[in-house]
Amino acid sequence: MQRLTIRDFLKKKGKEKITMLTVYDYSMAKILSETEVDGFLVGDSLGMNVLGFPSTLQVTMDHMIHHTRAVVRASPRQLIVVDMPFMSYEPSNEVAVKNAGILASEGADAVKLEGGVEVYERVANIVKFGVPVMGHIGLTPQRYLTLGGYRTVKDEAKLISDALALEEAGAFSIVIENVYAEIAKKITEKVSIPTICIGAGPHCDGQVLVIHDLLGMGDIQPYFSRKYLDLKAEIREAVKRYINDVKTGTFPGRENYKSRES
Ligand code: KIV
Ligand code: NA
Repeated sequence: MQRLTIRDFLKKKGKEKITMLTVYDYSMAKILSETEVDGFLVGDSLGMNVLGFPSTLQVTMDHMIHHTRAVVRASPRQLIVVDMPFMSYEPSNEVAVKNAGILASEGADAVKLEGGVEVYERVANIVKFGVPVMGHIGLTPQRYLTLGGYRTVKDEAKLISDALALEEAGAFSIVIENVYAEIAKKITEKVSIPTICIGAGPHCDGQVLVIHDLLGMGDIQPYFSRKYLDLKAEIREAVKRYINDVKTGTFPGRENYKSRES
């Protein structure tokens, strides 16, 4: 099956909801590649979810390259969007283009970076030189220090100008994180590119969720996520059975080992 493209995303606006999930490694990418989900986000949330960092500020290009390679090796049909980590695009247009190019050459179909008006030039340059960009506005975790924490962003006029700036700069889609549903609705109506929401209500063109939250594997369960599985409990229960089977001598069973007599 053909890999989805940014054109497929654009065509879905107003017709069909787009679904995305974060994916950080090969085995999950393999599993999810056989679902109908449209897009994979190799999110810098991997810093917390798989590397145990306190925030996304510790995530580097090397981390993103490492995890992008793992996801790309699964050859999924999903569009692969890769987060540009903290300070990989902020310093200059040159730095931004160079790092976006590295991620694209590793197999990213698009990159995502945080911000609106302030990243206009970065987005325009990256797109101009051949790498599609997904924007990310509202709560931008890489700016949590200046935002004063992980909080709902309420400045409607700023959010709208950020979204319009991203569209004008050539972004093919925009993630809207943690803003009032009414504002996300307004933005979705104002831009011609698909909006992908997380914690921004039901009126967007699509939705993204962190796979750890969906599966019940994360340290915390954000109010805007839904736990479809309690995998943490399932894993502990499976391990408990394993320990018990070893201790009682029921594992390994006769089918699990070879013996000279047959
Ligand atoms: O890194 C991430 O998981 C993200 C999503 C929350 C959009 O950027
Ligand atoms: Na991210």
